[in-house]
Amino acid sequence: MSIEMQEIVAGLKQPQKTISPKYFYDERGSQLFDKITELPEYYLTDAELEIMRANVDEMAGLVGKTASLIEFGSGSSLKTRILLEHLDDLAAYVPVDISEGHLWSSARQLRAEFPGLDVLPVVADFTRTFSLPTPTVMPLKNVVYFPGSTIGNFEHDDAMNLLRVMHQEAGDGGAMLIGVDLQKDAHIIQHAYNDDAGVTAEFNLNMLRHLNRSYGTNFDLDSFEHSAIYDEDEGRVVIELVSQAEQTVEVGNTEIELADGETILTEYSHKYTLAGFASMAEAAGFTVAKVWTDKEELFSVQYCTRL
Ligand code: TRP
Repeated sequence: MSIEMQEIVAGLKQPQKTISPKYFYDERGSQLFDKITELPEYYLTDAELEIMRANVDEMAGLVGKTASLIEFGSGSSLKTRILLEHLDDLAAYVPVDISEGHLWSSARQLRAEFPGLDVLPVVADFTRTFSLPTPTVMPLKNVVYFPGSTIGNFEHDDAMNLLRVMHQEAGDGGAMLIGVDLQKDAHIIQHAYNDDAGVTAEFNLNMLRHLNRSYGTNFDLDSFEHSAIYDEDEGRVVIELVSQAEQTVEVGNTEIELADGETILTEYSHKYTLAGFASMAEAAGFTVAKVWTDKEELFSVQYCTRL
C-alpha cells in the first residue's frame, strides 16, 4: 500500500474520521478553489486585495531595500503581484512549495513579468525548516510572506509550529507579512463557506471524486453532503462531509463503515481576534508591528518583526 493510501486509511479509522485537506487539490479541485475566491460570499479574497492595494506603499516601506521576500506557497496569486510591483529593489523572491509543478509554472510567469527580479524557487514542505538559496545580491533582511489566511487552516499546535518555522527562516532582523482572517458575525463567516451557487459544496465533495480516481476508493458522491459550520466558541469553521446513509466504503483492502449522519472532517478554518493572533505571534518570537484591515474589518494583513 502506498504512503498516501496508508494515510487515508489511518484517517478514516480514527473516531473522528478525517481526510487531509491536501486531497482537495487535484486539477478540478484547484479550479473549484479559484471559483470560490471569486464568489460574492467569500469575502476573504476581496478584503485582502483591498488591504494590499490600499497599503502596499507602506508595506514596501517596512520591507525596505534589498530584502529577500520568501513566500510560503507558490506565489501564483494576484496579491503577490501587487507586492512585487511595489518592491522594485528586492535581493530575491523565493517562493516555497511542495508541489513542483505549480512552483515551476508560477516562477516562469513571474520571471517573464518581472525581468529584473531574482526568482529562486524552493521545493520544500514549509511546515519544516528548509535551507534558503543564496541570491546574487546579499539580502539585508528576510521577510516571510504568507497570504490568504492559510494559517487559519492549521490547528493551534501546528500553527505555532509553522510560525516558529517562519521565525527561523526570517532570521536576525527579519519579519513576516501575513494574512489573518478575523472573527466576526457568525452569519458572514458561515455564508462564506456555504455559497448559494454550491461551489464550496462541489469543492468539498470533489475530494471524494479525487480519491476514487487516483486511489481506487469507491465513495458514492451522492451519499455525502457538504457541511460547514462556524463554531463561535472555538473560533473556527468545521468543514465536513456528512454520510447520508449507513454505508461501507472500500479503501484499498480496508472496509470503512459509516453511520447515517457520521462526518468526515476535511478542514478547519480558524478565525482570530487581533489579540489572539498577537499572543500566538509573540509566543513564536514575533511582535506585531503593524495591522491593516479592510474598511469592514473582516480581514487583516499584519507585519510582524522578530523580537
Ligand atoms: N484557506 C481557505 C479558507 O480557509 C480554504 C477554503 C475555502 C476551504 N473554502 C473552503 C476549504 C471550503 C474547505 C472547504 O478559507
